[in-house]
Amino acid sequence: MSHTTPTTLLTGATGFLGHFILRELLTRGRRVVTVLRAPLDETRQRLWTMMNRIGVDCDHYEQLGLLVTREGALPDDLPESNWGATDDILSCAASLQLHSNGNGEPFRTNVNGIEMLLDWARRHQVHRFHAVSTAYVCGGHKDGIRETLHPEPPTFQTDYERSKWTAEQLVTEWGRQPGHIVTLLRPSFLIGHSETGYTTQFGGFYQFARIVAMMTEHFRHEHKPTNGDATCIPHRIPGRKTDPVQNLVPVDFAARIAAEVVLDPSLHGRIYHLTDPNPPTWDDFRVWLEKYFNIYGGEFIDSGELSNGRSRAESLLWEKYDLLLPRLHHHVLFDQRNTRDVMDRRGIEFPRLDQSRFNRLLDYAATQKWGQKNGRDHNGTQRKSKDRKPASVASL
Ligand SMILES: NC(=O)c1ccc[n+]([C@@H]2O[C@H](COP(=O)([O-])OP(=O)(O)OC[C@H]3O[C@@H](n4cnc5c(N)ncnc54)[C@H](OP(=O)(O)O)[C@@H]3O)[C@@H](O)[C@H]2O)c1
Repeated sequence: MSHTTPTTLLTGATGFLGHFILRELLTRGRRVVTVLRAPLDETRQRLWTMMNRIGVDCDHYEQLGLLVTREGALPDDLPESNWGATDDILSCAASLQLHSNGNGEPFRTNVNGIEMLLDWARRHQVHRFHAVSTAYVCGGHKDGIRETLHPEPPTFQTDYERSKWTAEQLVTEWGRQPGHIVTLLRPSFLIGHSETGYTTQFGGFYQFARIVAMMTEHFRHEHKPTNGDATCIPHRIPGRKTDPVQNLVPVDFAARIAAEVVLDPSLHGRIYHLTDPNPPTWDDFRVWLEKYFNIYGGEFIDSGELSNGRSRAESLLWEKYDLLLPRLHHHVLFDQRNTRDVMDRRGIEFPRLDQSRFNRLLDYAATQKWGQKNGRDHNGTQRKSKDRKPASVASL
């Protein structure tokens, strides 16, 4: 492999989104230098296993000279460049910790880390920087969120959102220097592969489904249905049935659009919402959950009414998953002009969520014991890698 092959420096390759983007880039001939956390041997092995699960033989790409691994960490341990020229940087690493807890995150990785990466770009004459951000840098705003910078800080629901917004400002500032080009990729909430359901993350959507699974188990035990009849669990859902659910995006779609953008310089320099253009409604979601778990009895009500004496089912649902309630009432509409342009140019369809895709997502999560198997705790933080057990292989 000659050193003239376009080369991307990628952080976060061992992440949920990162390993899918790595697959897209390698299989299309991009040379990728991955920055992996210490100890390199162990993390490399983990990356090889993850890539193997999605059908990529890393040895093959390493032998071709397309896959390069280097030890490094954000913010202060980036490798010196000894692999030849770097054409661009794709920053995909992040701390997904939602709230500060004294360990410096999520700001240490997401803000200080980005500053160091931008400095690295400056020192190595890299002029193109692509940053994976989040659609929720819009904070509490709802209507017609455009694919533009949000120059004023909105009201944030989490420190994570604030850290990603701050990172966008830093990257944009860097992009104002002559010759620099910045691209921002903003996914909404990532869910598993649209065809197989494969995921390595089990937060948000999956936590809620898991609570419904627990609730179903509990009530089925108490009121055993006969002859396989559905179990009735009367419970109130505080929201409007026609409102869209929190925006969910399958990881394969997000990775595909990200790769299309990185690989085509004419698509650089813009902001992309990697989001569902037509999110399902809360009532679709209720129907899919009820069918999947063979239950019924959910009824939408005005949000205020739930404060009056909760039933056991309602307590289980709405107290265990306190993150969901504010989001039941935060219906954001994301404009997608730039993403739509990529989809039209490349003939890419958004894989719409329906009952069968929904079932596959939940089936896969259930085989992985809702994430208890792969070493992530509930806020998405990984346990130390030596404790991590790989999930079983899913062919994608
Ligand atoms: N997941 C979502 O729903 C979602 C939604 C919107 C936006 N995003 C954004 O998408 C990107 C990818 O997220 P993800 O879901 O793939 O996250 P993830 O699965 O938690 O992966 C995070 C990646 O970042 C690496 N990393 C974390 N802290 C690091 C540090 N200090 N130095 C170097 N590497 C570090 C991790 O390495 P280890 O494997 O060594 O831990 C891992 O490779 C992030 O920028 C995130 O903000 C995610």
